[in-house]
Amino acid sequence: MRLLITGGAGFIGSHMAENFVNKGWEVVVLDNFLTGKRENLSHISGKLKIVEGDIRNASIVNEVMEGCDAVIHLAALASVPRII
Ligand SMILES: NC(=O)c1ccc[n+]([C@@H]2O[C@H](COP(=O)([O-])OP(=O)(O)OC[C@H]3O[C@@H](n4cnc5c(N)ncnc54)[C@H](O)[C@@H]3O)[C@@H](O)[C@H]2O)c1
Repeated sequence: MRLLITGGAGFIGSHMAENFVNKGWEVVVLDNFLTGKRENLSHISGKLKIVEGDIRNASIVNEVMEGCDAVIHLAALASVPRII
């Protein structure tokens, strides 16, 4: 199974990524690294694909969606001050 996790370098997404990699899933992370960190994925970096990009870019989203069976969408600005 191939899974796309948007916001996969964030707090929740990186734990999701680890969980599904450990289940043997093929995991693709799409993240613009605004608040997410590469270090969150460093322990599993050889076991998944990391794409730096923004979910507002339709062509990148189409590209990373290719062949995916499921998507976990977590990319968001979780911080209220940052949104304001
Ligand atoms: N952490 C919590 O307790 C909690 C509770 C309820 C809901 N949520 C929701 O879960 C989601 C993830 O939360 P989190 O705590 O992991 O936040 P986080 O900030 O750690 O993760 C969000 C990730 O999305 C990425 N991102 C933001 N905008 C993006 C964009 N336009 N394109 C690509 N990537 C983008 C960030 O770089 C980051 O890696 C959010 O929607 C949040 O509101 C979180």
